[in-house]
Amino acid sequence: GLENLKEYLQNNKAVFNNPGIAASHGIDMPAGVMIVGMPGCGKSLTAKCISKEFGVPLLRLDIGRLMGKYVGESEENLRKAIRVAEATTPCILWIDEIEKAFAGLGSGGEVTTRLFGQFLTWMQEKKSAIYVVATANDISNLPPEFLRRGRFDEIFQVRFPNIKEREAIFKIQLEKRNGKRLPDGVDPHALAAMLKDQDNYSGADIESIVKEAMKRAFVDGQRKVTQQDLQEIIRNTKSSYQSQKEKLDKMLEKLNSLGVKPASR
Ligand SMILES: Nc1ncnc2c1ncn2[C@@H]1O[C@H](COP(=O)(O)OP(=O)(O)O)[C@@H](O)[C@H]1O
Ligand SMILES: [Mg+2]
Repeated sequence: GLENLKEYLQNNKAVFNNPGIAASHGIDMPAGVMIVGMPGCGKSLTAKCISKEFGVPLLRLDIGRLMGKYVGESEENLRKAIRVAEATTPCILWIDEIEKAFAGLGSGGEVTTRLFGQFLTWMQEKKSAIYVVATANDISNLPPEFLRRGRFDEIFQVRFPNIKEREAIFKIQLEKRNGKRLPDGVDPHALAAMLKDQDNYSGADIESIVKEAMKRAFVDGQRKVTQQDLQEIIRNTKSSYQSQKEKLDKMLEKLNSLGVKPASR
């Protein structure tokens, strides 16, 4: 899945990995991308894949851990972190669940507000080959400055996978754990069709269904997983969406109202 996002990243890779030539064509170094949306739908996974695809190291910035107890300490920590990134160029700088880092904004969190400003200024002025990838589950409390153009080149939203994507995720999750091939008699299309659209199963839900079914087959005589094992687990597994419907519906509504580009076609 996530074809739009993958295509977009491929285009950015062409520029990121040829900065000199791109510059001579008047093309700026890409600043980075923000990926928002439903939990368990591949945001963190994509961040890790970008590093592999671009062939550059992945640095993870944990903003929560920059917070120090002395005046000015947090800002100094952020400066240090940025220096490390600058010394590692080209690299991907990944900030996972950025909404949690900046959660204190606007509610008297003075240090957070200063860090936020410092980070945004750096992002806007940076010329170095650091591709910033930020992810967020919930954007309702994210300061609007983040979503404004000029910070990130683009913002994408991930949604729950459709039937075709569910099939592809079943296939990839099964093959990954079975020597790169599907276990005999397993039909990912039929499995994907068992999961109803309105139940909004995520990629993470599918991964856990596969793991659970494989464990069960192993316990039951160290055998390979069968279609029947998988079907039985599916019948007994609710999607994460079903257990937090109210909260996720609100998030979906917010995403819709912002008109953020979909990552999938
Ligand atoms: N589109 C996808 N394709 C393949 N696997 C996926 C996909 N989305 C989720 N998964 C599986 O679910 C796991 C959790 O996804 P993750 O990227 O951590 O979700 P989040 O969007 O919450 O960051 C992944 O490690 C992967 O195994
Ligand atoms: Mg994540």
